[in-house]
Amino acid sequence: MDTIQAIKERRAINFFEPGKPLPDHVLNELLSIANLAPSSFDLQPWKVVAVRDPERKKKLRECAMNQQKVEEASAVLIMVADPDGVEENKDRMLESWQNLGYMKPEARKGTAGMIDSLYGTRDSLTRKYFAVKNTALYAMTLMLAAKGMGYETHPMDGFDEGCIKKEFGIPENKIIIMLVAIGKLKEGTVLLPRPFRRELDDFVSHENYSRK
Ligand SMILES: Cc1cc2nc3c(=O)[nH]c(=O)nc-3n(C[C@H](O)[C@H](O)[C@H](O)COP(=O)(O)O)c2cc1C
Repeated sequence: MDTIQAIKERRAINFFEPGKPLPDHVLNELLSIANLAPSSFDLQPWKVVAVRDPERKKKLRECAMNQQKVEEASAVLIMVADPDGVEENKDRMLESWQNLGYMKPEARKGTAGMIDSLYGTRDSLTRKYFAVKNTALYAMTLMLAAKGMGYETHPMDGFDEGCIKKEFGIPENKIIIMLVAIGKLKEGTVLLPRPFRRELDDFVSHENYSRK
């Protein structure tokens, strides 16, 4: 499936075929492909908790407004934005850039300083934005990759973050941006037409925010 087709055919799926496993090799391929998503300074500040065990999905459903698809999907991924991604990944990223010739060794210190000043302190709002926007790109890339691999997905923000953090051992300073359910469309499901999309005129301006 090509990219445009995957974008056009991806839908948020409410009805997954229950009991369909998502094998390790498929899950790992999907997570790896999504890991090619771009990120600020290549810092990749995301973490993913993959939930496939039926009992764990049941628990997750309880934290997710009792949404049936959480239990019926083959897997549900908890997408975690990690504000500590800067400290965790900066040195490895700089090492790779240096080794691959993106950056001369003498530029390393300056680049590290630029990153520190751009993304603020660990608990700053700037840092939260950084983590959230990059993790959202990871999640979107994953949903399109899943479509390309013959799977359906459903993004969800209908959940109690505190409940998920408690049940799944996610530290307080992390941000759960969404859940993504993955699986096969339930047999016999007829999808309603794609819902409302705004006209370009409604959200695009040219050269200036207010210029249509
Ligand atoms: C971040 C995000 C959170 C969402 N949360 C939920 C949710 O908790 N429950 C739900 O039924 N749909 C949820 N949706 C699905 C949207 O309602 C759906 O994407 C939208 O209606 C457009 O439909 P389409 O994805 O099929 O084009 C969410 C979508 C996104 C992107």
